[in-house]
Amino acid sequence: MRIPLGAHTWRFTGGVSAHAAGSAAAARWRAARTRLHCSSGPEQERPEPSVLRHLTSKIKATGPISVAEYMREVLTNPVTGYYVRNNMLGPSGDFITSPEISQIFGELLGVWIISEWMGAGRPKQLQLVELGPGKGSLASDVLRVFSQLQSVFAEASVSLHLVEVSPALSELQAQNLTGKCSQKADAEDEPVYRTGRTTAGLPVSWYRRVDDVPTGFSIFLAHEFFDALPIHKFQRTEKGWREVMVDIDPEQPGQLRFVVTPSPTLASSTLVQAHERRDHVEVCAEGGVIIQQLARRIAEDGGAALIADYGHNGTKMDTFRGFKGHQLHDVLASPGSADLTADVDFSYLRKMAGGGVACLGPVTQRTFLKNMGIDTRLQVLLRNCTDSSTRKQLISSYDVLTNPAKMGERFHFFSLLHHSRLGKPKKPEGLKLEKKPQTAPLPVAGFTELRFS
Ligand SMILES: C[S@@+](CC[C@H](N)C(=O)[O-])C[C@H]1O[C@@H](n2cnc3c(N)ncnc32)[C@H](O)[C@@H]1O
Repeated sequence: MRIPLGAHTWRFTGGVSAHAAGSAAAARWRAARTRLHCSSGPEQERPEPSVLRHLTSKIKATGPISVAEYMREVLTNPVTGYYVRNNMLGPSGDFITSPEISQIFGELLGVWIISEWMGAGRPKQLQLVELGPGKGSLASDVLRVFSQLQSVFAEASVSLHLVEVSPALSELQAQNLTGKCSQKADAEDEPVYRTGRTTAGLPVSWYRRVDDVPTGFSIFLAHEFFDALPIHKFQRTEKGWREVMVDIDPEQPGQLRFVVTPSPTLASSTLVQAHERRDHVEVCAEGGVIIQQLARRIAEDGGAALIADYGHNGTKMDTFRGFKGHQLHDVLASPGSADLTADVDFSYLRKMAGGGVACLGPVTQRTFLKNMGIDTRLQVLLRNCTDSSTRKQLISSYDVLTNPAKMGERFHFFSLLHHSRLGKPKKPEGLKLEKKPQTAPLPVAGFTELRFS
């Protein structure tokens, strides 16, 4: 999605900063990453030589590679990966996301986190863990809510943990969240590769993997993270399920093409469900592993996860697509120069989470934000704002986030919760609760309508 140049970040009197989405953003929302179909289009660019060379040597040496391996190499190869090298978010990048569109988005997620922490009995320690934090805007908006409600956390120790594979983005996150108060680890391969203090004085640490985050009561946030993880693609054929692979096009040697394996692969034999009815399936096994890690931690240490992304409930087929300069881009053209993404299959995440945690959702972004009180928050901001262009921008960004035809119904919220949160009596072992768990638990915000008096 595009937003107007020069209006990206702004402030208005009353001291509330905002990530803007101007009226032009509303007009151009159609270019968002939420488009479902990718067509080759007329664009024929020169390929990024090193990425393409690396992929073709690999394919020549070992044969066609899975789409998951292709996606992993293109996006997160430690040297050439798209995420590793680029700052792709914003008007001059390839796409824009909800936290960059409006401050209200992150503020409401901040309220959600506080509500879940209170619902869990206000544990003394709260780890806020964000997966794939982009520019750090979401964490920054959440932490602003925390500091405005400081008295709520008077006796709690709060820390921020960022799981980020991109050195370029982690640098940007550090600047946005800590100013100059962060330092890199001495050795590059340290699990905690950067540490610092946020401008409000909270400790913040960076990791490449969820597994490296310390255990303890944690609230996990993942906004447009799961859609960036590698997917396997499978095609139903007359001979059964076969995996879609990436190969060198023999007729155009500098180009890649999709092929279907002649026989089953380990992935096609294990990842496609026996009762599958679709003819084409995408499975994000890496996302499944990460959900299992979150579920295990929540079951053992308490906490919750809030996952927001575009996706479906096990119904869609071919959603793999590329984005470059806010336009759809052929996924196999100039690898490394464009973002690659696929819709999140929430039914798969629910299945992989297992029975150790409770799952809520998915509900649409519109429902979630309205339940969280976005209308009330908008009114408060408008009441404090006299500048007419800022007012227009606030209204326009609200519309982009909630309009069913824009992001309102394309994005969904999904949550993992400890069973005790929904009224089941079991308390996580070792979790020190400041207050006894309530017999009638608080409703889970966002997934239930809250009343504001
Ligand atoms: C689409 S961006 C979303 C950024 C941000 N959450 C937002 O909504 O603005 C995906 C983010 O996940 C990070 N990322 C992608 N794959 C990752 C991986 N395997 N491990 C950790 N971070 C990853 C990217 O570097 C980037 O920060």
